[in-house]
Amino acid sequence: MWQEARRRKTWQRKTSEDWNKRAAGFARRHKNSVYVKEFLNRLPLSAGMSVLDMGCGPGTLTIPLAPKVREITAVDFSPGMLEILTAKAAEGNLNNITTRQGAWEDDWQALGLGRYDLIIASRSLAVDDLKGALDKLRRAARGWVFIGDRVGSGPFDPAMFAAIGRPFHPGPDYIYTINILYQMGIHARLDFIDLPPAHSYKTREEAISSWAWMFHDLTATENDKLNRHLSERLTKNNHGHWCLRDEVCPSWALISWRQTTHQHD
Ligand SMILES: C[S@@+](CC[C@H](N)C(=O)[O-])C[C@H]1O[C@@H](n2cnc3c(N)ncnc32)[C@H](O)[C@@H]1O
Repeated sequence: MWQEARRRKTWQRKTSEDWNKRAAGFARRHKNSVYVKEFLNRLPLSAGMSVLDMGCGPGTLTIPLAPKVREITAVDFSPGMLEILTAKAAEGNLNNITTRQGAWEDDWQALGLGRYDLIIASRSLAVDDLKGALDKLRRAARGWVFIGDRVGSGPFDPAMFAAIGRPFHPGPDYIYTINILYQMGIHARLDFIDLPPAHSYKTREEAISSWAWMFHDLTATENDKLNRHLSERLTKNNHGHWCLRDEVCPSWALISWRQTTHQHD
């Protein structure tokens, strides 16, 4: 069922080159986000922990986590993302972070990955073999695993696809992940991070560029349609900022379980 739902999705899986191009914009948009604060608040942290951040991106979670734990290994297949993370770690004098360029699909032992007290995989589980990826998490865990997974259309806004005339099917979301874990004998906990429905931008241009990431190769006509759609939805608030209200309140699923050794040994 997961594979069928994947076949119906209309967005393309991004390569490491795609993520390299998006690294700086992603880092800018996700700095100080409600999502990051809520994700970190729900982690069972202690100072002696070893942590793996799989699909770490520009360090959205690695950087604020580092001062709270013993060590973090941050893995991503995009060198552009890892460069930003490394620069931020140097800026913050954080010396307990190890980076590895690697993918979900790689041999994790060959990457030098071991076992960790806490593993996080936030918004990074875009893989062709979900069960295989979950199995890797299970094997690398000797404590808690936390996955941030899509709910429904996730970060995509279906109204914008409709506005430019492109079809949109989001593909499978967290409910498949929970069920595949169940098939693997893992009874995971489920929580949600609800994001505020309104976004605020200093300029109209910032608003437009922060939504254009959703689309591959916008044509000039589509670009005009997107601009017109956003112009209709953007309103100016009392502070002179541009605001855009989501039609559906976006949220992320937080899937977690505690891995005990005997579950896979
Ligand atoms: C949406 S970003 C999330 C970054 C960070 N974890 C966060 O929540 O802000 C997704 C990240 O997953 C990485 N990624 C996507 N597919 C991957 C794969 N197959 N192997 C390793 N990393 C991958 C991308 O390079 C990107 O940095």
